[in-house]
Amino acid sequence: MKNMHWLILSICLLYIHPTKSLLPPDDSSCSNQCFHQLPSECPSPENPCRCRQLTNCQKAAVCCNVNRFTLKEGLACGNITAASQIQSLHIRNASFDSFNLSANQNVWRNLRYMTITDGHIKKIDGEFAKQNSISCLNLSSNHINSIEDRALNTLFNLSFLDLSHNNLTDVPSFRKDHTIFLDISNNMYLNCSILTNTLQSHPEIAFVNENQTFCYPTKDLDFGWFQSQATLAFSQVKAKYELEKNCHQNCSCKTVSVNLAPGKMAMFEVEMNCANMSFLNLPVPLPDNTVSLDVSNNNITSIKELSEPSYQNLRSFIADNNKISSVQPLEGTKFISHFNTLSLQRNKFKFLETYVLDNIQFERNFNQRKLRLGYNTLQCDCNTMKLKVWLLSKLSHIPDYNHIKCDNLNVRIIDLDASKMCQSPQDWTDYIYYIITAEVLLLVGLIAKVSYDYWVFKTAGYLPWPANRMPRLPCDWLCE
Ligand SMILES: *[C@@H]1O[C@H](CO)[C@@H](O)[C@H](O)[C@H]1NC(C)=O
Ligand SMILES: *[C@@H]1O[C@H](CO)[C@@H](O)[C@H](O)[C@H]1NC(C)=O
Ligand SMILES: *[C@@H]1O[C@H](CO)[C@@H](O)[C@H](O)[C@H]1NC(C)=O
Ligand SMILES: *[C@@H]1O[C@H](CO)[C@@H](O)[C@H](O)[C@H]1NC(C)=O
Ligand SMILES: *[C@@H]1O[C@H](CO)[C@@H](O)[C@H](O)[C@H]1NC(C)=O
Ligand SMILES: *[C@@H]1O[C@H](CO)[C@@H](O)[C@H](O)[C@H]1NC(C)=O
Ligand SMILES: *[C@@H]1O[C@H](CO)[C@@H](O)[C@H](O)[C@H]1NC(C)=O
Ligand SMILES: *[C@@H]1O[C@H](CO)[C@@H](O)[C@H](O)[C@H]1NC(C)=O
Ligand SMILES: *[C@@H]1O[C@H](CO)[C@@H](O)[C@H](O)[C@H]1NC(C)=O
Ligand SMILES: *[C@@H]1O[C@H](CO)[C@@H](O)[C@H](O)[C@H]1NC(C)=O
Ligand SMILES: *[C@@H]1O[C@H](CO)[C@@H](O)[C@H](O)[C@H]1NC(C)=O
Repeated sequence: MKNMHWLILSICLLYIHPTKSLLPPDDSSCSNQCFHQLPSECPSPENPCRCRQLTNCQKAAVCCNVNRFTLKEGLACGNITAASQIQSLHIRNASFDSFNLSANQNVWRNLRYMTITDGHIKKIDGEFAKQNSISCLNLSSNHINSIEDRALNTLFNLSFLDLSHNNLTDVPSFRKDHTIFLDISNNMYLNCSILTNTLQSHPEIAFVNENQTFCYPTKDLDFGWFQSQATLAFSQVKAKYELEKNCHQNCSCKTVSVNLAPGKMAMFEVEMNCANMSFLNLPVPLPDNTVSLDVSNNNITSIKELSEPSYQNLRSFIADNNKISSVQPLEGTKFISHFNTLSLQRNKFKFLETYVLDNIQFERNFNQRKLRLGYNTLQCDCNTMKLKVWLLSKLSHIPDYNHIKCDNLNVRIIDLDASKMCQSPQDWTDYIYYIITAEVLLLVGLIAKVSYDYWVFKTAGYLPWPANRMPRLPCDWLCE
């Protein structure tokens, strides 16, 4: 009975812990996409040879703690030569001022997996031979500052490039004619412009470990007012890139980031330019957070789209030289209460609706507000006097007031003369007095009738018509 237990237990243990040495030598156990060995696989410290071939993996070798001289020796004493056809090599803890790829070409030529990690290498130079089969190159964790421009250009079969945990400032050039997985995470001084360019020009690159990938913003990228020492997360660079790429057709978008507080995701504000495009309507919808839109030199006839939800963050709207005929759609929009620049020069206005313009606030928080309406020629009549009055009170906000003129008279709006424009005695303003008089008479009549009713009620005890026909109102108790 006891023996039975032991038997079952040992069978179980065998299944749970199949030790590595039990497995037959098999490449798939050692190199999957790349080849990577633990320090425990290094030659033992007392072994004078720094390289050794592995017994559990086919055509695989490990070299440890080498410099330029001991690597050469190690390759020789480990019998890692052109003849041995080693395909997987991991070099750990290499100390090189510069690692010259042109040296030991005869060995590198056979490699499919080349891994040089966890060392101190300042620079990679030289280049691989044209005939090579390297599909994974891992140069992670070496403190590498630079990789010579042509160093990786002959890696025709490359599919995985790991440059993580180094000190690179740019993405080295390599062949990108097929999908390549690139891990460039944890290089803290990576140039954001260069990273964006790589993203832009090489969609075939699949970034690995995006969440640990950072870059250092530069002024030319226009990341806005970032803290000078802040690094950006790759996700933010990517978000910016996607926003710019997915701009409205025939328009260009520029993003400026705001809220770059440490640890917070950047928010982007979009400036969109659709000038000179023969648009007949305003573009809809705008990208999220569009704060500025330029649609000058198109054939836009109406600005009714300003009330669209995607226009709610707009603060600058420039629509010069279009065919817009009315400012009426501005009424009630978020834009009219938030904007800092509105430019509608050279359009097709015949009238400017003063009741809409009157709603624009220029006081307090809005004293920087600018409204340009110049080079429009209006149909002038007595009503235009109201526009003149409005203009005169807002001159500092309407820099081009001198260029708003009449179409039917060769005169500027601000020079209009009321006595000439409004000379007709039958002017509509006269009717207002009749209406006011009629209203006053009606009011007096009403008061008289109510007083009479009250007097009758007090003296005779009943309510005259029509008060006696009225239903009781909730507020009647006030009188009782
Ligand atoms: C790396 O190699 C150097 C010799 O080149 C050695 O002194 C050092 O201890 C090694 N470091 C590790 C972590 O093995
Ligand atoms: C070196 O490797 C070659 C080819 O694998 C083999 O023929 C030769 O015997 C090896 N030499 C030593 C010293 O192990
Ligand atoms: C790299 O090695 C090759 C050949 O050994 C040599 O021609 C080249 O000058 C070396 N490059 C550098 C930068 O040392
Ligand atoms: C490359 O080497 C690093 C450092 O040893 C390791 O963490 C990483 O997993 C390796 N990358 C791949 C793709 O094997
Ligand atoms: C390398 O790529 C070439 C074609 O680009 C292909 O013919 C060859 O089989 C590849 N080699 C390996 C080892 O994958
Ligand atoms: C890493 O790169 C930065 C910027 O290029 C440099 O100032 C710094 O000295 C480098 N650090 C190391 C350890 O090489
Ligand atoms: C980043 O790259 C751009 C363009 O290549 C360059 O103009 C800029 O000076 C670089 N920034 C830094 C900090 O090296
Ligand atoms: C990366 O970060 C995003 C958002 O912060 C998260 O949703 C995602 O799961 C992360 N991915 C990995 C691989 O950690
Ligand atoms: C964009 O421009 C192209 C060519 O000028 C034109 O064919 C297309 O209709 C335009 N698209 C829009 C949305 O205006
Ligand atoms: C539009 O055309 C005008 C005149 O041809 C030019 O001055 C302006 O720069 C152009 N704007 C854009 C964004 O192309
Ligand atoms: C826009 O207007 C101009 C001038 O009025 C005209 O020549 C042009 O054909 C118009 N474009 C479109 C797309 O309607």
